[in-house]
Amino acid sequence: MLSIKNLHAGIDGKEILKGINLEIKKGEIHAIMGPNGGGKSTLSNVITGREDYVVTDGSIYFEGKDLLELAPEERANAGIFMSFQYPVEIPGVSVSNFLKAAVNANRKAQGLEDISAKEFLKTVKEKAELLDIKKDFLSRSLNEGFSGGEKKRNEIFQMAVLNPKMTLLDETDSGLDIDALRIVAHGVNKLKSPDNAVLVITHYQRLLEYIIPDFVHVLIDGKIVKSGTKELALELEEKGYDWL
Ligand SMILES: Nc1ncnc2c1ncn2[C@@H]1O[C@H](COP(=O)(O)OP(=O)(O)OP(=O)(O)O)[C@@H](O)[C@H]1O
Ligand SMILES: [Mg+2]
Repeated sequence: MLSIKNLHAGIDGKEILKGINLEIKKGEIHAIMGPNGGGKSTLSNVITGREDYVVTDGSIYFEGKDLLELAPEERANAGIFMSFQYPVEIPGVSVSNFLKAAVNANRKAQGLEDISAKEFLKTVKEKAELLDIKKDFLSRSLNEGFSGGEKKRNEIFQMAVLNPKMTLLDETDSGLDIDALRIVAHGVNKLKSPDNAVLVITHYQRLLEYIIPDFVHVLIDGKIVKSGTKELALELEEKGYDWL
């Protein structure tokens, strides 16, 4: 589904990613761990096509499409969804309206008409029930005054409604408490299917007790220095990163 080969990328002339190779297949959950500043967020930013980052070598293919040829919104429309380590606040735009716009942008790209009010309500209701989200939450301004846990809940809710093929979750620090970790994990597990894939970036072995990854990768100084199964996460928790 996602195939990254020899990816080199940087910002302002500084190389951050120094030859990343990563293959993610449908139905798989991959976790990336690693010390601060290793390039984890950069990797997800480059996959989603955030401006400022310059790819100097290598390739990223998503379902056979050359992602590097696509604009960020085209990548989103191709089915890639990303949560942010630091979500933006949009005062005056409700959670529900924001989602509707996102759904419609997606449909437009596929040549479909806007979703009907009825259909949208039905989807929202269904997903809100699935993820235990209260009705009044949907009318709040996007991320304005949201607690850390509420931001997470919102992210997972967006993911549920948009139903992406590939989800990138950057859970790095941002002070997630155990409840927020559970919200993320619970959502990811409920939304997992043989047709989608998830890449989760985390510092917490604990998150991986709830979301069981098929593969764990360690990213240090712009390179994946080790890959393994969930046991690798336990080993990292115990030994840190120095031995790698
Ligand atoms: N916009 C930017 N401008 C300048 N330097 C940047 C920028 N984005 C990333 N970097 C640098 O690139 C390196 C990798 O940063 P990145 O955010 O990808 O690390 P990370 O692995 O996600 O770290 P953390 O675990 O702390 O979230 C760091 O040295 C960082 O300072
Ligand atoms: Mg980061």
